[in-house]
Formats: sequence, C-alpha cells, structure tokens
Amino acid sequence: MYGFITGPLFWLSITIFVIGMAMRFIMYFKGLHWQLDRVAYRAFPLKGLKGAWRSIYRWLLPFGTQSWRKQPFMAIIFFGFHIGAVLVPLFLLAHNVFLKEKIGFSLVTLNPSVADILTWAVVVSAVFLALRRVALPEVRILTTSYDYFILLLSVAPFVTGLLARYEAGNYSFWLVLHILCGEALLILAPFTKLSHIVLFFASRAQLGMDYGIKRGGMKNKGMAW
Ligand code: HEM
Repeated sequence: MYGFITGPLFWLSITIFVIGMAMRFIMYFKGLHWQLDRVAYRAFPLKGLKGAWRSIYRWLLPFGTQSWRKQPFMAIIFFGFHIGAVLVPLFLLAHNVFLKEKIGFSLVTLNPSVADILTWAVVVSAVFLALRRVALPEVRILTTSYDYFILLLSVAPFVTGLLARYEAGNYSFWLVLHILCGEALLILAPFTKLSHIVLFFASRAQLGMDYGIKRGGMKNKGMAW
C-alpha cells in the first residue's frame, strides 16, 4: 500500500496537477475576447505588465487592497489559512526528504516549530472560514455544499498530517491517510475551484492589465479604445 501511494499514485497525482493546472492557465487566456481584451494588451505590453504586477502583489499583501482593509477578520483568517497552505506542503522538512529520495532534488526547509505553527494556523483558520460561511448571511446565501467540500478537501491533508505528526493512535494509518488526502487534492485541483491556485494569477493579471491600460492607466494618452 505505502509503496503504491508513494510510487505510481504519487507520480500520477503530480502529473495530473501540473498538466491540469497548466491547461487551466492557458485556457483562461485563450478564452479572452480577442477584440475586447487582447488587442489592447498587445499594443501596450509594458503598461499592461505594470498593471498586472500591481494587481497581483497588492492582493497578496495582507491588508494590501481596500477589500482586505474593509474585511480585517476575513483578511486574518484568509492569510492564516493560505500562508501555511502554500508554504508547508512545499517546504516541510519531511516532504523535502521525500522529494530528495524521489527526484534527487529538494528545496529550502522550514524550521519544524514554524511548520507546526503554520499547520495549526491552517486548521484553525479553516474552521473560521467555515464558520464565516454559516454566520454571515451575505456569504451563507452564496454558499453550497460544494464550498464546504472544497474546504474539507483543502484542510484534510493538514489535519491528517498533524494526527500523524503527534502520533495520535496508529501513526501508519494517519500517514497513509495523509498521503491519500494530499494526492486527492492534487488530482482534483485542476477540475475544481482549487484551480484558483493558478487562476488567481491569471485573472488578477488580466484585470490589472485592463486597469493599467483601458480603465484609467492610458487615460488622456491618445489611446483609441
Ligand atoms: C498562491 C496560491 C493561492 C492563491 C493566490 C489563493 C487565492 C485565493 C483567493 C483569492 C481566494 C478567495 C477568497 C475570497 O473568498 O475572497 C481563495 C480561497 C480559498 N483557497 Fe486559495 N489560494 C492559493 C492557494 C490555495 C491552496 C494551496 C489551497 C488549499 C490547500 C487553497 C484553498 C482555498 C480555499 C479552501 C478557499 C475558500 C475559502 C472559503 O471557504 O472562504 N488555496 N484562495
């Protein structure tokens, strides 16, 4: 079992994730209207790139946008969740030992206590993200069981990782479940809302280009659109 999930199933999950996400990214830009969107982007690439960069980094800064500042509680639980959700899978020491064994390559690693804190932050923030969906009427009305499924899919590798790390009961059981939950996330990400991991950058870049060129950036600068 362990050999299968850390061998063929691991490679299958990584392949589906990488190819699937690359396709979602390409399809986003292919889906843009060639006259309404792409014409202006091509004609003013530098203005566009500047707008794209500004739009991405401001959203990635806690409290970097007006929207984040208007919802401080959401900003805290959002970043509490996402900082760990992105950093822990990539830079956890145990993951990098595994990577080194598999492909002979590893990344820098997180201090184990920092990794613990970030993982707990993911789990606690996920609980608050779920509670927010129940508590706020304006969010509840937009929420379906699919949103809870995505939250569960996202947090499951972290919960099972913690259970294995603290050896709660049977270590091997939690480890196998942890790997399976991580692989389920990788396989389902390109087909679900988790594709936002790349589509966030695509849509923010596109909107940033739009604002950088058509909606203000090139105002009174002789642009024909
Ligand atoms: C660099 C990578 C990522 C970026 C830029 C990003 C960005 C975002 C954004 C903009 C939202 C919408 C927040 C809103 O409702 O206003 C979101 C929601 C969400 N993201 Fe990510 N994300 C990333 C990676 C991840 C990863 C790796 C996971 C899972 C492990 C994840 C799981 C979620 C979940 C579950 C939600 C919905 C939270 C809720 O129920 O309100 N994200 N993300």
